[in-house]
Amino acid sequence: MVLVPVAATRAPATLLVIFGATGDLAQRMLFPSLYGLHADGLLPERLRILGTARGGHDADAFRALVAAAVQRQVPAREFDRDRLDGLLARLDYVAADTRDAADMARLGARIRALREGEVVYHLSTAPRFYAPICDALAAHGLAGAGTRVMLEKPIGHDLASAIAINDGVARVFAEDCVFRVDHYLGKEGVQNLLALRFGNALFEPLWNARHVEQVQITVAEAVGVEGRGDYYDGSGAMRDMLQNHLLQLLCLAAMEPPSQFEPTAVRNEKLKVLRALRPIGRAEVAAETVAGQYVAGAVGGQAVPGYIEELGHPSRTETFVAIRAHVDNWRWSGVPFYLRTGKRLPRRATEIFLQLRAVPHSIFPGARIEPNALVIRLQPEERIELLLMHKTPGLDRAGVRLSQVALDLDLHEEFAAHRRRPAYERLYLDALEGNGTLFVRRDETEAAWEWVDAVLDGWRHGDHAPRPYAAGTWGPAAAIALTERRGHSWRE
Ligand code: BG6
Repeated sequence: MVLVPVAATRAPATLLVIFGATGDLAQRMLFPSLYGLHADGLLPERLRILGTARGGHDADAFRALVAAAVQRQVPAREFDRDRLDGLLARLDYVAADTRDAADMARLGARIRALREGEVVYHLSTAPRFYAPICDALAAHGLAGAGTRVMLEKPIGHDLASAIAINDGVARVFAEDCVFRVDHYLGKEGVQNLLALRFGNALFEPLWNARHVEQVQITVAEAVGVEGRGDYYDGSGAMRDMLQNHLLQLLCLAAMEPPSQFEPTAVRNEKLKVLRALRPIGRAEVAAETVAGQYVAGAVGGQAVPGYIEELGHPSRTETFVAIRAHVDNWRWSGVPFYLRTGKRLPRRATEIFLQLRAVPHSIFPGARIEPNALVIRLQPEERIELLLMHKTPGLDRAGVRLSQVALDLDLHEEFAAHRRRPAYERLYLDALEGNGTLFVRRDETEAAWEWVDAVLDGWRHGDHAPRPYAAGTWGPAAAIALTERRGHSWRE
C-alpha cells in the first residue's frame, strides 16, 4: 500500500465535543468510526469524548445508545466487547440547548472539567446552528487558543448562505482552525486517486488534453431518499452531491501536482480547478445540464416507488443531475468532464473514467480499435482497470483481429488483510491532530457554490423541471444525448 504520510501540525486534542451526538450521522458513522480508532489504539491516549444534544439523556443512557449503535454498525468479526467498553469509558454526555445560556454554562463547566489540552468541537447539527453555536462557545469562553471546529456539509444552500455561515464561524475561529468535512475525502479510494496520480510516473505524461478525450465522474446510488425526504427535498442532487462530493473528485482528478501533501499546497491546487470551471449559466444550462427525478420502477429486481410517492407531496426537486463541465486551463482545454449523480440508479457505483484519444492511424485494416481508458472504481469496491487493445488469439487470414482487455487491479483482494475503514476514521484522526489536508477550505466551498449557483439560477430562470426517469435506469434519456452530441457515451 502507498502510505501517504500525514504530518501532525498541532498537539493532538485531548477533548472531542460532538454536538448533535444523538443524531443519525453520529450513530451511523461517527461513533462506529471512533470505535474503530479506539480499537486500533489510534486515538490520543488521553482523549475524552463529550456528546451533547438537546435530548434529555444522562451519561449512562447515552453510553447505552452509543454501544447499541456500534454493535449495529461494526461488522461482527471486528467487534470486541472490551474495546467497546474502552471507548465507552472515554464518553460523557451533557444535554444542552445551545441557545440557552444556563445550558451552555453547564456544558462549559463540563468542558472545562474534562479539558486537559486542545479541544475539537464537531458540529453535527443543522448548518443554521453553526454560527450560533460558535458564538455561544465564544460567549462562554470556550473558544480561542487550543480549540478548533469541524463542520459537516452542507455549508449553506447557495453562495450567500455559505458566506453567511462562514462569516459567522470566522468571527470565532480562524480559518486554519476550521475543518469542513466532505466525507468523500476520507475515503481510502479517493486518497488512492492521489497516490495513483502522484505516486506513479506512468500516468502524468498522459494526464492532459493532448491525450485525454473525455473524463466521466459518476456517483450512482441505488437507494432512494431513505427517510431523509424533508432535508433532501430542500436540497436535491445538485446541492446534496454535486456541489461537494463530485466537485471534490473533479478537483483531485484535474488538479496540478501539489508540491507537497499538506493543507495549503493541496487546497490551493483544488481551488485553481474550481476557479477554472467554465461557468454554466442561463444561456448554457439547456445544452450542458440535465436534471431528472425518479418515478416508480425496479432496482435490483425489487419494485420501488417514485420520489413523489416516497415524499408524499408534489416536488420539482432533482434526484439526478448530469453536467458537461469544462476546466478552462492549459492542461484540460477542450476536454469534457461529464459529471453524473443520482438516486435510484441501477446500482451503487462511484468511478472516474478517463478515456484516451484514439490511435492516430490504424495499421490493422478492418480491425476495430477501442481507445484506451483508465477506470478508477472507488465504490462499492476499489479497483483500477486499464483498458488495452489486445490481439484476439487465432490464425485469422483476413487480418489481425483485436479485442479490448482489462489490466485489472482488484485492491480489495490485493489488500484483503486490511480492514476497510469508514471515511470518518481518517477524518477524525486528522482533525484531532490538526491536519487540514483532507478538509475543505472556505474559498473552495464558496467557489463551488458560485459555479453551482449559476446552474441553479439557469434552471430556475428557464423553468427547467426535472425530467422523469424510471427507478433502476441510468437517468433521463436526455443524459445520454448530453454525451452523444460529442460522440461520447456513458460507461455503464
Ligand atoms: C451524503 C449525501 O453526503 O452522501 C447522501 O447527503 C448520500 O444523500 C451520501 O447518500 C453518499 O455517501 P456514500 O459514502 O454512501 O457514497
